[in-house]
Amino acid sequence: MIDKIKNICCIGAGYVGGPTMAVIADKCPHIQVNVVDVNQSRINSWNSEDLKYLPIYEPELAPTVKRSRGRNLHFSTNVEEKIREADMIFISVNTPTKISGIGAGQASDLKWVESSARQIAKYAQGETIVVEKSTLPVKTAETIKKILSTVSNNNKEIKFNVLSNPEFLAEGTAINDLENPDRVLIGGENDESINYLKDIYLNWVEKEKILTTNLWSSELSKLIANAFLAQRISSINSISALCEVTGADIKEVSRAIGMDSRIGGKFLNSGPGFGGSCFKKDILNLVYICNYYGLKKVASYWQKVIDINDWQQERISSIIVKNLFGTISSKTIGILGFSFKADTNDTRESPAISICKDLIVEGANLQIFDPQVSEDQIAIDLESEPKKVSENDFDNFGWISCNDIYDAAKNADALVIITEWEEFKKIDWQKISNLMRPPSWVFDTRSIVNKKIVLKNGLNIWQIGN
Ligand code: UDX
Ligand code: ADP
Repeated sequence: MIDKIKNICCIGAGYVGGPTMAVIADKCPHIQVNVVDVNQSRINSWNSEDLKYLPIYEPELAPTVKRSRGRNLHFSTNVEEKIREADMIFISVNTPTKISGIGAGQASDLKWVESSARQIAKYAQGETIVVEKSTLPVKTAETIKKILSTVSNNNKEIKFNVLSNPEFLAEGTAINDLENPDRVLIGGENDESINYLKDIYLNWVEKEKILTTNLWSSELSKLIANAFLAQRISSINSISALCEVTGADIKEVSRAIGMDSRIGGKFLNSGPGFGGSCFKKDILNLVYICNYYGLKKVASYWQKVIDINDWQQERISSIIVKNLFGTISSKTIGILGFSFKADTNDTRESPAISICKDLIVEGANLQIFDPQVSEDQIAIDLESEPKKVSENDFDNFGWISCNDIYDAAKNADALVIITEWEEFKKIDWQKISNLMRPPSWVFDTRSIVNKKIVLKNGLNIWQIGN
């Protein structure tokens, strides 16, 4: 019998595990929180003395980590020992879309979840509550349960209870989302285990906000929350294209429809398409599950959300080429923003990746600046090394990374704003105008700059949905 939760282990020190455990440790000084990961360099970064080297950039994360690290928040690669000591284990490992085999391109690859479950089965002692935190397709808890029970059947001393506790944090606002959640969802079958997890959240979350459901409702709710949010973005993005050809302004339309309290004003910003590790993966999962159960119409309905998202990204590349006299071969294009949204260094599924790849294929030289994304990460995402191309070298093209906005604009024919970083809203357009090669273009895929000021400084501008 667990008496009280005193020791938590979290497997996976990524964008979900790291911030979530930092907040639990901060709010529950009476609980020891151990975050473990197989990636030694990631753990080293979490332990780095200088907090600016934490592996993920997230506002308010550094001070939160600082308050608990070394006290009741610990990062290590000591998976075996920390699992053994834990009363409660969170699984927060990556679950990317499968790239080969059955369900490739749609189903989630659960090999990391399975390997975590096997590690738990091997090392856990006594009674342990296992909490699935990663975004997972429905019925994954079932798989985890099966792996764990096979082992525990042979050993009467060991007992597992599995809970689903999906994470709803959005990157860039993770700490605030964790500290002030709209709701906390706990799915499970064992009331005692549910209450142990509930007790942890009750340290800072009002009890009315903690919902308990069965395991599958919890797993499905996470998938559907993301699908609905993504659907909203594809809806508004589809209308951005209609605005551009009819002379309506997407911002005005968003505002007008958002004031209908049934629609609501959030998540109505049109842009270059959604990115991030969750939306596409979760909808692909939803499509996969629907097809599996023979619900073809439902599957194709949700597939359209992704189709519109892909189309939006392709549309932007074509608009850039079209406005630059139909060719960007050997032209220089400044790219502002590479992360999938502002306030994060995460580039997973960032629209910047496909847009930059399209522009490079068309022969452009890109000068990329992002305040938080490293050159190494851009090289991984673009699958090529940075390359400085000299002027008039018509046979060469590629990309380099730049130190700031103005560096990226130097001698450029066009400047493309892809991420809505705050500093891009305060650009000195006169300075930019002097740096660029006329006729210079600004492509604002987030509609965040003041069009009149850009025009006044002799630049041409295209804005999404305008
Ligand atoms: C999302 C969910 O919001 C979160 O609840 C879940 O736990 C994980 O997935 P995240 O992907 O981190 O979070 O960020 P989010 O703010 O949802 O943005 C996702 C993408 O949609 C970004 O590329 C963003 O730029 C885009 N977006 C968002 C828009 O284009 N317009 C909007 O109005 C809102
Ligand atoms: P998320 O956005 O879901 O947090 P990340 O990819 O940022 O995803 O983080 C997942 C982390 O899980 C990675 O750092 C990875 O090394 C770690 N991980 C995956 N499998 C295991 C495992 N079996 N044991 C420990 N850590 C693991």
